[in-house]
Amino acid sequence: MHIAKKLAQVNPSATLAVSQKTAQMKAAGADVIDLSVGQPDFTTPDDIANAAIASIKDGSASFYTPAAGLPALRRAIADHVAKKTGYRYEPNQIVATDGAKFALYGIFTAILDEGDGVLIPLPGWVSYVEQVRLAGGVPQAVKSQKGFKVTVDDLDAVVTSKTRALVLNSPQNPSGVIYTKQELTLIGNWAVRHNILIIADEIYSDLVYNGANYTSMLQLDHSIVENTVLVSGVSKSYAMTGWRVGFIAAPKKLAQAMATIVSHATGNPAAASQYAAIAAFTGDQASVEKMRQAFEERLNTVYPLLKAIPGFEFDGKPDGAFYLFPNVRAAVKATGFESTDKFVTALLDDTGVAVVPGRAFGMPDYIRLSYAKGLDDLVEAAKRINSFVTANGNA
Ligand SMILES: Cc1ncc(COP(=O)(O)O)c(C=O)c1O
Repeated sequence: MHIAKKLAQVNPSATLAVSQKTAQMKAAGADVIDLSVGQPDFTTPDDIANAAIASIKDGSASFYTPAAGLPALRRAIADHVAKKTGYRYEPNQIVATDGAKFALYGIFTAILDEGDGVLIPLPGWVSYVEQVRLAGGVPQAVKSQKGFKVTVDDLDAVVTSKTRALVLNSPQNPSGVIYTKQELTLIGNWAVRHNILIIADEIYSDLVYNGANYTSMLQLDHSIVENTVLVSGVSKSYAMTGWRVGFIAAPKKLAQAMATIVSHATGNPAAASQYAAIAAFTGDQASVEKMRQAFEERLNTVYPLLKAIPGFEFDGKPDGAFYLFPNVRAAVKATGFESTDKFVTALLDDTGVAVVPGRAFGMPDYIRLSYAKGLDDLVEAAKRINSFVTANGNA
């Protein structure tokens, strides 16, 4: 069996690998607290689920829809984006996709010729690097000189004449940092000057805490917006990871290319999911705010507990998304483990707490913990991690 050479460089999703092991342990009866997951623990709000059920029952979900999505969904997304950012796209600039994950893959497929580069700031979501490779491109990791946000200087150090795009994820998975308007403007102008497309992954834009300010790339100058493709979806804001609806909002040429790609690659996202997404974008947004408040309370509860663990160092409290990303180098050293990966494996085996090693996000001294879990579980997990570090300390 011949497998394409490009696959040899592509790693399976590390977060899904941890989740699989955790699920196996759970099935075997282990007392597991899974903080590796990248999804809300809430179920989809009823009004959204009911819209899908109605579309199944009345038969409208039985059929193919236009590949780029139902016209009503593309209109609903355009309205939703306009309400959130003040920038209005035409519905034909919107393409609905099978999750934001395929939106990103489709963009890379649309813009990359063999060997073209994409700037990916570290830490970065696990799939960016692998998707770029799958699309025949070259991931160009960008390290920040300070903290988790990259600057124009950091980008200048990596950019080449083959660079086509920059992925900017704010609020960021895994660190939870949010770029300020000023930081985005500097980066946006730099990208325009270099003719580099900005892929603005704003999937966590509703999950912002403790009064932090969030600016969308679409709130900047038109020259920047016209050089940007927005990626988002319903997964995180509406507790809809299983429904698989994402979207891009883009300049017309890119939206058309994307529509061609989805028409051959996936066809339309499941029709029932699209009806649910219309309800999500057009319905009462109270449930989004309720879930946001729950995440905020969890962050405020668990952050100080984790910060108090010996050898866990944070670069400030996260402002968004639902992850914590401490540097655990000192804890790994003090507990005598060879690497963060070994520390993470022993933590799961000994205490049942699952987290993701930072290597998956390009930063091996870190771990990612999701706080999309109930408060009791989070407090218990922090207790177990603390005992684990303390018990193995000064090994
Ligand atoms: C930063 C980021 N972008 C995109 C996605 C993809 O989301 P989905 O495919 O569920 O819409 C995720 C999911 O974890 C993510 O964390």
